[in-house]
Amino acid sequence: RLISWTPEMASKEGYPHFMLKEIHEQPLAINSTLAGIEEGAFNKVVNAILDSRKILIIGAGTSYHAGLVGDYLLTSMLGLDTHTLISSEYRKYLNAVNDGDTVIAISQSGETIDTLVAVRAFKERGAKIIAISNVIDSAIPRESNYVLYTRAGPEIGVAATKTFTTQLTVLTILALKIGVATGKLTTNEYRSAMDMIGKIPGLLQNVITKTEGKVKALSEHMSKKQSAYYLGRGIGVPLSMEGALKLKEIAYIHAEAYPAGESKHGPIALVEENYPVVFSILDDDNADAMLGNVMEMKARDAYIIGLVPDKYVGKFRELLNVTLEMPSIDYRVAPVIYIVPMQLLAYYTAVARGYDPDKPRNLAKTVTVE
Ligand code: G6P
Repeated sequence: RLISWTPEMASKEGYPHFMLKEIHEQPLAINSTLAGIEEGAFNKVVNAILDSRKILIIGAGTSYHAGLVGDYLLTSMLGLDTHTLISSEYRKYLNAVNDGDTVIAISQSGETIDTLVAVRAFKERGAKIIAISNVIDSAIPRESNYVLYTRAGPEIGVAATKTFTTQLTVLTILALKIGVATGKLTTNEYRSAMDMIGKIPGLLQNVITKTEGKVKALSEHMSKKQSAYYLGRGIGVPLSMEGALKLKEIAYIHAEAYPAGESKHGPIALVEENYPVVFSILDDDNADAMLGNVMEMKARDAYIIGLVPDKYVGKFRELLNVTLEMPSIDYRVAPVIYIVPMQLLAYYTAVARGYDPDKPRNLAKTVTVE
């Protein structure tokens, strides 16, 4: 009997789209990142950072959001002088970067022209460049002083999924290594944090299994909406930015992320009955403040979707229209886990609206014009 699979179907391994395959592949991709960690390469990068006064992180799109998560760790956990900017806005910092400063350039493709142009400009100012990329020997790694690879395997879907979570994995490990090298973390703290990172693939698999059906059902509702907010605090802010970007780029629904505390300074004016608000509630110092923000939205009859750590489910459930239960985990690894239901939400909402999530209109996987 003839096999009726086309080569494209075969490469999707039974999934209807590459995006869904790549979302599901994330536990494997992170395992491959962890297996590919080269201590020597990390040590060189850590030493370069220890020698520098200032750290800039640059990236575009999803890579910019990964940069903001990394920035959060370097700034709040380690107290380093770190700034993150969108690659195409590098000119703001051109005068502020000097010999010996460090620029971390994040680009999954390694070919995004905005990031490449910024790398060249900062290099000219005497900065050392550290590339974080998924593509070996692509342009940005080639022009950088040091490279850390994410090793997520090829990503075909235009929306970044597994390349984002592997970028976060590399950045978190880098922050921990800098932490122990500077004495901000004890060896024990470092070891237990690294153990926690080793558990990410398993946790992520559980989250996919537990939330996918619920997210799919939610997507039917979401597909009829015109606009949504994604709110978080702390490291939950860049996480929410990435969640909102996914919905926007794949499902073509206007989505905006805000720090939850700032939502009452403007955004809440738009909230009326059934307006969707996605809250990323983490197991951190912000949980009580988040409860207040959820109540404010509830009072306006918003349609509230909450990603909630299991230990706070009791506290939040009554206020939420949809509860997506997350493991209670250290805030430093939460973005890797929490982004997954938001990726699934964007994916299923796009499908419910009849769009092809692998080929969103007007978007390219790699943008090579300024
Ligand atoms: C494009 C893609 C995004 C990606 C961004 C940066 O806009 O559509 O998914 O995040 O480029 O790409 P890079 O390869 O530099 O990470």
